[in-house]
Amino acid sequence: MSDNAAKAIFWAGTLISLVIFAVLTIDTFGQFDELTHADKLDDHVVAGKQAFERHNCNDCHTLLGFGAYYAPDLTRAHKRLGEDAIKRRLAEPDVVFADSWRKMPQQNLTDEEIEAITAFLSWVSNIENHDWPPHHSEHRGYGTSLLLAGCAAQLADGGWCVLGPRAVAAGSHGVGHVA
Ligand code: HEC
Repeated sequence: MSDNAAKAIFWAGTLISLVIFAVLTIDTFGQFDELTHADKLDDHVVAGKQAFERHNCNDCHTLLGFGAYYAPDLTRAHKRLGEDAIKRRLAEPDVVFADSWRKMPQQNLTDEEIEAITAFLSWVSNIENHDWPPHHSEHRGYGTSLLLAGCAAQLADGGWCVLGPRAVAAGSHGVGHVA
């Protein structure tokens, strides 16, 4: 292939990808109101978001993948736990998580803050996020079992497979960890 042909393929590929990326980005932005149920974004929910920020909940938790990875992601927490359980955790984290190996501090939230943060978490839990982040995805277990089944088959065959950061290999002494 000549230099010019290679350059033409490079530029055409780059430009086409760029155009597709731009079109998809604009299309996604156009759907934001619908995906986030923006009509339900009232003052109460906004007050909850402000309280969430004021108390630095993101220092430990993630929302839609943003934040710190010390504590559980809260994107679907309201759906998963329900209204009352959320309120109890916000009011008495020191009691609810007393036996846990990781702690959530008592933040002395007011009743209004608890109501507002709960409303905010309820709103967030209804955002259509196309399963991202996948913490609570219904498909997650399926993917993991497929991976494990695939790994088991590979190992049975005397091969190897990568599970997370570790490569697992079948050796003469059974299954061992490499690297
Ligand atoms: C210093 C870290 C830290 C901060 C700050 C913090 N949390 Fe937590 N939170 C945790 C930990 C750790 C857990 C999980 C405890 C467990 O399950 O053992 C938790 C659990 C929760 C849960 C239950 C989640 C679940 O899936 O079970 C909710 C809801 C929650 N926190 C909301 C909040 C809110 C809202 C704030 C801010 C007002 C906040 N947290 C601030 C550490 C923190």
